[in-house]
Amino acid sequence: MTDFPVSFAALIDDLASQGWSQQELFAPQGLTRELAAECHRRVQNGDLYAAAVGRGEAQQVQEGIRGDRIQWVEPGQSEACDRYLVLMDELRQALNQSFYLGLEDFECHFACYAPGAFYQRHFDRFRDDDRRTVSAVIYLNEDWLPEQGGALRMYLPDGGEHDVLPQAGTLALFMSAEVPHEVLAATRERLSLTGWFRRRGDSPL
Ligand code: OGA
Ligand code: MN
Repeated sequence: MTDFPVSFAALIDDLASQGWSQQELFAPQGLTRELAAECHRRVQNGDLYAAAVGRGEAQQVQEGIRGDRIQWVEPGQSEACDRYLVLMDELRQALNQSFYLGLEDFECHFACYAPGAFYQRHFDRFRDDDRRTVSAVIYLNEDWLPEQGGALRMYLPDGGEHDVLPQAGTLALFMSAEVPHEVLAATRERLSLTGWFRRRGDSPL
C-alpha cells in the first residue's frame, strides 16, 4: 500500500450506511495539483471535446442537458494520471473486499465546465449497460467559494439533498444506480476527474 493520507474505511462506512460519501483531501495535495495542471494543459491544448448524452448510435451533444467538455484518461499518458489510477485501483480492491461488488475496472475522464455550463439531474448507470456501479469524482479547483456555485447536488433516498463543492482534493463517491445527481452551473471554470468503478458485464459480447 502507498502512504496516502486517506482512510478508505470512512468512505466504505459511508457508502454502506448511506450510499454516498464525501472526503476532503482524498488525494495528497501534490497529486491533486499535478492532476489539475494536467487537466489545464489538456484544456489549453484543445484536447477536450463536448460530452455526449446517450450511448452508441443514440449519442448526441445536448448542451441543454450536459454542457461539459471531457477527455478520457488512458494508462501511460502522464505520471500524475497513472498515480491516480493506482490509488483508485487500491480503492477498487478495498470496495470489493467490503461489498463483494466484483468491481473489475475503473474508467475516468477529465471534465471541464465553462462558466454557466451544467449537467441536469441524471443517473450514471446506462439503461442498456449496467456495469457502472460506483461513481467517483475528484475535484481540481483551488479556493472554491460556495457563492461560485458549481456544486454536485445529490438527491438522497430520504428526500433530502446534499451538495458537494468542487474544491481541489475533495472526492465524491456514490452508488451509480442509486443516487440521482446534477452539476449546478458555476461562475468560474470547474475542473474534475470523473470516473466509474465497473463490474463485469452480463452480456457475453
Ligand atoms: C458526471 C457527473 C459530477 C460532477 O459526469 O456524470 O455527474 O460533480 N459529474 O462533476
Ligand atoms: Mn453523473
